[in-house]
Amino acid sequence: MDKFTKKTGLTVLITLFWASLGLAAGGGGAHMEPADIDPDNIASLQRGARNFMNYCSGCHSAQYVRYNTIGKDLELSEEQLIDNLMFNAEKTFETIQTAMPADDAARWYGTTPPDMSLMARAKGADYVYNFLKGFYVSEESPTGVDNLMLEGTSMPHVLWELQGYQEAHFEHHENEDGSVTTTFDGFEQMAAGAMDAEAYDEFVRDTVNFLAYISEPIRSDRRKLGVWVLMYLIFFFILASMLKKQIWKDVK
Ligand code: HEC
Repeated sequence: MDKFTKKTGLTVLITLFWASLGLAAGGGGAHMEPADIDPDNIASLQRGARNFMNYCSGCHSAQYVRYNTIGKDLELSEEQLIDNLMFNAEKTFETIQTAMPADDAARWYGTTPPDMSLMARAKGADYVYNFLKGFYVSEESPTGVDNLMLEGTSMPHVLWELQGYQEAHFEHHENEDGSVTTTFDGFEQMAAGAMDAEAYDEFVRDTVNFLAYISEPIRSDRRKLGVWVLMYLIFFFILASMLKKQIWKDVK
């Protein structure tokens, strides 16, 4: 490869890299912060499970997820599982059901709160993270809040006691053809919650980490399996090349 093609190749690679970052962060033009979750952090997953059971399971089910699977994966004893997570269940093999009957929910909120089993996979962990951080005061909304990620959402800001209330600023820009483009220009804290911004981010990150885990509970098993498969392949590669040497030794 001469110097020129090398340089061009490198430029193309770097451009592609930035473009892919741009696409990943784009998300329909809304501002998105990375969730930065760590699926191997068991303590974070445990906190996330507790957050979910305390603050979300009143409305949201996770009906493909069994308590005993969570207990095993999150390294909880049966007693810890029963005492800390199983508020609506009797037996550890039950799945996570919500306390709220679906038709009541539909009557109160206009929509049934969706099941959370696959939510993080369907919408992306970053989306859910920004959704939980995206509630802002809106007088036009019956719940008193709107959401930057899901305009007109019927989910109330159930974490307001922790986060407090924030206001969203928007910039309106008039285009030449008379249409108006609105861009988000940051949040401003109006009333403090029990947590400061950093603690709230951690709380949301743990919760999203748990949601990402339930949407793919065998992920960590799969990764462990992957290591074994690789070791197996390397072993047989070495064996095969030794064999090949042995077999062709006299032919040359
Ligand atoms: C008081 C009931 C209630 C509670 C508690 C609640 N939600 Fe919701 N949630 C809803 C409703 C209703 C919707 C449907 C909103 C819509 O479609 O506008 C929803 C929708 C969602 C969505 C989907 C957003 C989308 O883009 O479609 C996510 C994610 C979510 N909730 C996460 C959570 C998490 C995490 C918690 C716990 C911290 C939680 N919710 C607690 C009522 C609730």
